[in-house]
Amino acid sequence: MILVTGGAGFIGSNFVLDWLAEREEPVLNLDALTYAGNLANLEPLSGDARHTFVHGDIGDGALVARLLAEHRPRAVVHFAAESHVDRSITGAAAFLETNVMGTFRLLEAVRAHWNALPQEEKEAFRFVHVSTDEVYGSLAPDAPAFTEQHPYEPNSPYSASKAGSDHLARAWHSTYGLPTITTHCSNNYGPLHFPEKFIPLLIVNALAGKELPIYGDGQQVRDWLYVGDHCSALRRVLEAARPGSVYNIGGCNEKTNLDIVHAVCALLDELRPRADGASYAQQIRHVTDRPGHDRRYAIDASLIERELGWRPAQTFESGLRLTVQWYLEHPQWVQQVQSGVYRQWIDANYGNRGGQA
Ligand code: NAD
Ligand code: TYD
Repeated sequence: MILVTGGAGFIGSNFVLDWLAEREEPVLNLDALTYAGNLANLEPLSGDARHTFVHGDIGDGALVARLLAEHRPRAVVHFAAESHVDRSITGAAAFLETNVMGTFRLLEAVRAHWNALPQEEKEAFRFVHVSTDEVYGSLAPDAPAFTEQHPYEPNSPYSASKAGSDHLARAWHSTYGLPTITTHCSNNYGPLHFPEKFIPLLIVNALAGKELPIYGDGQQVRDWLYVGDHCSALRRVLEAARPGSVYNIGGCNEKTNLDIVHAVCALLDELRPRADGASYAQQIRHVTDRPGHDRRYAIDASLIERELGWRPAQTFESGLRLTVQWYLEHPQWVQQVQSGVYRQWIDANYGNRGGQA
């Protein structure tokens, strides 16, 4: 079996669902169920004996040691993290605690387990550390996309904490030989995405008749990756990447935030037109920018294509259509995640931006 951390979050739950749709190998899913973790994401697996969920913290060394000894996974895929840049600006401590110290404690528990494995199992073991392109910092408009050699220049507390965890994963390989592999993916989007992040926030706000908040001039560029394509890349990495290797994973879809909001509005205009016949684009509103806002991210994914034969299956157009359709078909999921805690965040983040989200 494999151990997945953070498997109740956006990418983790997509990964677990896709994994069990593709293969028989069981999954042990360790998640602390923070505000971002949602067991409803895993509902299709209820009663599936191949999925075992454990409510717990990656930083709980005794718990992780017990799980490793009991279940003897052949690999760890490490998603668990605090992941939202805006939250890292207003409260960095949780990011350092989980992303840096949590990853450190997890690496230590895994190292102790791995050290005691028989030689053959030791050689086959893998620890996939899921990181982000944001550790590379911000690109000038005409600069080449990030390669795996790009220097680390993190600008937000989130990206700085992820950079810290990447350095730990690297050092645990160099120093102790732990077979870690690090991946840097660009912005994911797709089903089960918590609506504090840009694309799902636009969809749920549009449908609720609320404003669509665009930070600053909206000319910031992100390289959007459909979550299912990220999951297929990680399966391939687990299968074929060498210990100590690093891969960038991107969708080859550089878009400005204004491109995104107009694409979302156009799809909603087609699939769920407003009662008054006007476009959802009327709800767009420019609000105060994010401090330290990175202007551009872009991924050069040629290494993973060349070495592992991975390429994204979705274009931005097909992936965004799937995503908008999924939100239209799952109003109960949206309603359930918009709890009191969610509303508090929306008030805190958008209350002072001169916009009303
Ligand atoms: P998410 O915030 O949706 O989910 C994170 C999950 O981790 C949640 O289920 C949460 O309960 C769990 N978690 C948090 N702290 C924990 C702890 N201490 N112990 C155990 N579980 C804990 O995040 P996501 O968007 O699914 O991102 C997953 C990973 O991918 C993260 O490491 C993130 O940095 C990375 N990543 C995400 C994106 C993106 O676009 N979403 C892009 C690049 C990289
Ligand atoms: P986000 O989904 O938070 O991802 P990240 O900051 O990790 O790239 O934001 C994506 C882009 O959208 C980013 O440039 C910030 C911008 N954005 C807005 O313009 N308005 C919003 O309300 C949010 C949440 C993000």
